[in-house]
Amino acid sequence: MNTSHLTDGGQKAGRWLLTALGPLTTLALGSLISTMPITGALADGSVNIYSYRQPGLIKPLLDEFTKNTGIKTKIIFAKKGLAERIAAEGMNSPADILLSVGIGKLVGATEKGITQPVNSDTINANIPARYRDSDGHWFGVTTRARVIFASKERVKQTTITYEELADPKWKGRICTRSGQHVYSIGLFASLVAHHGAEWTEKWLSDVKANLARKPAGNDRKQVKAIFSGECDIALGNTYYMGKMQTNEKEPIQKEWAASINVLFPNTEDRGTHVNISGVSLAKHAPHKANAIKLLEFLTSTKAQQIYAETNFEYPVRAGAPTSKRVNSWGMFKSDEIGLDMIAKFRKTASELVDKVGFNQGPSS
Ligand SMILES: [Fe+2]
Repeated sequence: MNTSHLTDGGQKAGRWLLTALGPLTTLALGSLISTMPITGALADGSVNIYSYRQPGLIKPLLDEFTKNTGIKTKIIFAKKGLAERIAAEGMNSPADILLSVGIGKLVGATEKGITQPVNSDTINANIPARYRDSDGHWFGVTTRARVIFASKERVKQTTITYEELADPKWKGRICTRSGQHVYSIGLFASLVAHHGAEWTEKWLSDVKANLARKPAGNDRKQVKAIFSGECDIALGNTYYMGKMQTNEKEPIQKEWAASINVLFPNTEDRGTHVNISGVSLAKHAPHKANAIKLLEFLTSTKAQQIYAETNFEYPVRAGAPTSKRVNSWGMFKSDEIGLDMIAKFRKTASELVDKVGFNQGPSS
């Protein structure tokens, strides 16, 4: 299967959605074409979720929602292109909810005009203002911190700042994924917000000079490089620590994880950069009332706990518990800058990455 597949939020039914989506999805989903009619399916009130997250990560949560409310859910999953698909489907889109990762995608969907505002006292009470759009077009469900993974063997310091990554003491010791990846851009945009574009350009240029190699691979591959001695520190998202520590498919990843400490940057000043996973209500949601029930459910303490635990993330709702494993990596305070500021500066950040040739690596 390619990047798309359809799954069901708890039951085995659900192929109808493929028919409903027509030729666009038919192309993307290849052999999974259904012949079931759309009418009955649209009438059953199921909430249709277009998700950039793997269905397995949200299934426990959706099962709980269905158990509580009797409302079924169906999921379309794709790594890319869901917002474009909703736009192309227009008024006939079966999408009720768009589930995204990263402020860039959430704001991007709003800018595309494929979302509608939700004004819910429940959501507004449960989700801190800095994790939701002031117009109600999106809100965060979980957070993840962009931290430093540091070799236990070769890095003895227990605190760090993003700023000091530019220090020559790290020359040849830093690994990271592409500077243009949304996780990198989120962090760099926060630096533009705090220090300005000129400062960030110099910082990017200095960090580039400190890299051990050209930016490449995902966050876990950077930890692998620390494990193998290629570098000493790397930037990465917190939940990858959990994914490595519990990886039964590729148990060597447990050893990668065991070779590093998690350092939360800037805990002694403004706090560590965090980004969100979040949700939007689709502009033409055919099951709006049920979709809002699901959105509100996502802000309940129970749902927050389940969702955060399944993904090794942090709940956004104050007081919702974080899992023991996640807490074991250390406590931190998060940078409280508004996510709207991160969104605002992501274009500048992306231009600066190109301007300094960050992705060309240390020798260029
Ligand atoms: Fe990720």
